[in-house]
Amino acid sequence: MKLDFHTHGKLAKRLPFSTQYTDWLLKEAKNSGLDAICLTEHFNTMQFDELYGYISTTAKRDGDTFITKNGLRIFPGMETDIAEGGHILALGSVETILELNLRLAPYKNPDHFLPFKELMDLFEKYDVIVGAAHPFREGGHIPELPEDQLRRLDFIDLNGKDVSENLDVIKELTYSLADRIQKPVLSGSDTHQATQYGCIYTEFTSEINSFAALANEITSNRYDIFISKNAAFQVRTARILKQALKEIHAMGGDYVGILLSDEEDEDTPSFVGRTTVIHKTIVIDYSPKADEMAEKIRLAADEMALKGFELVSVTATASAKGIMVFRKKGL
Ligand SMILES: [Fe+2]
Repeated sequence: MKLDFHTHGKLAKRLPFSTQYTDWLLKEAKNSGLDAICLTEHFNTMQFDELYGYISTTAKRDGDTFITKNGLRIFPGMETDIAEGGHILALGSVETILELNLRLAPYKNPDHFLPFKELMDLFEKYDVIVGAAHPFREGGHIPELPEDQLRRLDFIDLNGKDVSENLDVIKELTYSLADRIQKPVLSGSDTHQATQYGCIYTEFTSEINSFAALANEITSNRYDIFISKNAAFQVRTARILKQALKEIHAMGGDYVGILLSDEEDEDTPSFVGRTTVIHKTIVIDYSPKADEMAEKIRLAADEMALKGFELVSVTATASAKGIMVFRKKGL
């Protein structure tokens, strides 16, 4: 079973959850050759609960995991910031992850992130596998935490994004830390994007559908880590694509539509077609009585709404006529 221990189900934290984008990611994960992923979305991403609710209702439950219609196995998880700087991965049943996310609600802003010790005190009350995500990423301070605290972790993440930038150094640092605290190293791509799947993964000899079995395979060391020769290219491409899609969203465009357009028929409108704004004006005939004018405006607005137009403004002229301006996105 080829498993990616660290993935995301949304393009970015501050973007709304899109079922179409998530479906596309999960399909691409399977197409990349992975059998399974840990969905470790940021604990303070927008609509965290809706993402996990969507997976729960659309994929088939199998033990602690879910299987999508394309056959990808999903282990639920979460990535949480700590006050010292750094991210902690927690893997557990969807019920556990959702409950933990609720309990972390007061600590989702940078001013209120929990210190590592307090977060681990909370995690220890639950049945979760806990790992240090990308411990050598800039801005993080996990390796500097007291050793007795670090020993509370279950694994260290050899992170695809970091490995792609500096393979030898990150490998050396990660395995040294793992050696120091006597914990296993596992790997995850940390992708928010399709091209990054498969840049690094952990392969187990058997198919696993529970966290108990997963923990057993990890402690028995029955797995290998693989790093793609194309990892640097995959991560760089993903970064560029992610940035471009975020820009499209910021400009009011439909980034999901762009991604999916190559899968749809030739009649799919182009990007320009989808994002162009067109305007229309309507003149209301001479209506000296206010209630008569108001009724005509209402009727015109209702009629235009059926054609997809939104009312922008209404002006009454000195000659008791009305000018209405409407707009619609798309050609
Ligand atoms: Fe991440």
